[in-house]
Amino acid sequence: RYIDQLKDLKGKKVFIRVDFNVPQDDKGNITEDSRIVGAVPTIKYALEQGAKVVLASHLGRPKGEKKPKYTMAPASKRLSQLIGKKVIQAPDCFGPEVDKLVDALKPGECLMLENVRFYPGEEKNDAEFARKLANGCDIYVNDAFAVSHRAHASVEAITKVIPTIAAGFLMRNEMTFFDKAMTNPVRPLVAILGGAKVSGKLEVLEKLVNKVDKIVIGGGMAFTFLKAMGYSVGKSLVEDELIVTAKKVMDKAKKRGVTFYLPVDCIVANAFDAKATNFVTTVQEIPEGWMALDIGPASATLFAETLRDAKTVIWNGPMGVFEMDAFARGTFAVAEAVGNCFATTVIGGGDTDAAVNKAGVADKVSYISTGGGAFLELLEGKTLPGVKALDVKSK
Ligand code: 3PG
Repeated sequence: RYIDQLKDLKGKKVFIRVDFNVPQDDKGNITEDSRIVGAVPTIKYALEQGAKVVLASHLGRPKGEKKPKYTMAPASKRLSQLIGKKVIQAPDCFGPEVDKLVDALKPGECLMLENVRFYPGEEKNDAEFARKLANGCDIYVNDAFAVSHRAHASVEAITKVIPTIAAGFLMRNEMTFFDKAMTNPVRPLVAILGGAKVSGKLEVLEKLVNKVDKIVIGGGMAFTFLKAMGYSVGKSLVEDELIVTAKKVMDKAKKRGVTFYLPVDCIVANAFDAKATNFVTTVQEIPEGWMALDIGPASATLFAETLRDAKTVIWNGPMGVFEMDAFARGTFAVAEAVGNCFATTVIGGGDTDAAVNKAGVADKVSYISTGGGAFLELLEGKTLPGVKALDVKSK
C-alpha cells in the first residue's frame, strides 16, 4: 500500500522514514543530495494533504552516540530549500522536548527528528526505542529505500507500533524499476558489473548469471577473472582465494548460454596514484609490477557494443578508479554508452550514480537507484526487511 492509497491524512501525525544519509564535505556542506530530492514528492504530498509530518533518518555510523558531526541539521536545511517551507529541526529523536515540538505541529508543518543512530536501540531494532520514536504518530510511511535492507527500529520494529503503514513514492519508483529490470525484463537483458572486488559481489554474480543474457565485467574485479583464465595481471587487484569461484561463475554462464565479457585491454600504472605513469596495454601484455586501474579504449568499445541490441540494462560498479582523472575514461565511456542506448537502463550503488552524474548522462538513464547496499541486496534476490515489514502489515 502506498501513501496515496491512504484516506484522509488531514491533521494526522505522519511519521516518514527517509534516508538522508548523504555525503558532506568537512564543513558539513552536502555534496550530493539525490536522496533528499528523491523523498520530496512523498513529503510534499503529505504536507499538501494537511498531515503533521515527522521525518526521521540516520546519517553515517555514529555507533549509538550523539556525535554533533552527524546531526541531521544540514539535511533539514537542504530539504527546506527544496520544498520551500520551514523544516523544524528537533534537538533529539525523542524525549520531552521532542514531544512538545510534535504536539505543537499544525497541519502542513514538518519536523525533522535528530539522527536515529544516536541511540543503540536503532540498530538493535529495539521495540522500546521504536515506541519512543513513534511518539503517538497515526501513520508510518517508509520512503527510505536505501536503508530498507537494515532491520533497524525506524525501519522494521516501528511498523509493529504504528497502526497504519504505507510506502512512499520513492519506494514505489525503486521497486517498479527494479521489477522492470530484473523480475520481468524485456530481453536481451545485459548486466554490467564493476567495482574493486569480486568478494563484495559474489551473490550478485551468481544471481545475475541465472538471469541475464549478457554479463559484462569491468573494474578491479575483472582481474580475478582474467587471472582465472590464465593471464598474468601484474600487480592488478586479484582475490586469489576466489579464482576457483570465478572459474565456476564463467562455466555456469557458458552452460546457460550467457555471453561473458571481460576487458581486452586496460590502462596500467606503476603506482596507485593519480599522477602515476600509465599507458594502454592488452590484457595479454600487462607488465610485471604494473597494475591495471581502468579498462582500455578497445574494452570500452566492446562493452558499448554489447548494449546495441539491449532492451534492458542494469549497471552497478565503476570500470576503474574513476575518482582519479587518469583512470576515469573507461567508466565515463560506459556511462555514455548506457545513457545513449535504446533500452530501459537501471543504475544502482553509490559510486555508479556518482559516475553517471559526473559523465553528464544522468538524465538519459531510465532510473538511478538511491540505494547502495539495498540495491545490491535486491540484485542478490533478497527480500529487504523494510519492504517485507510493509507487505506483512498491509495484508
Ligand atoms: C547507505 O548509505 O547504503 C544507507 O544509508 C545505509 O547505511 P549503512 O550502510 O550505514 O547502514
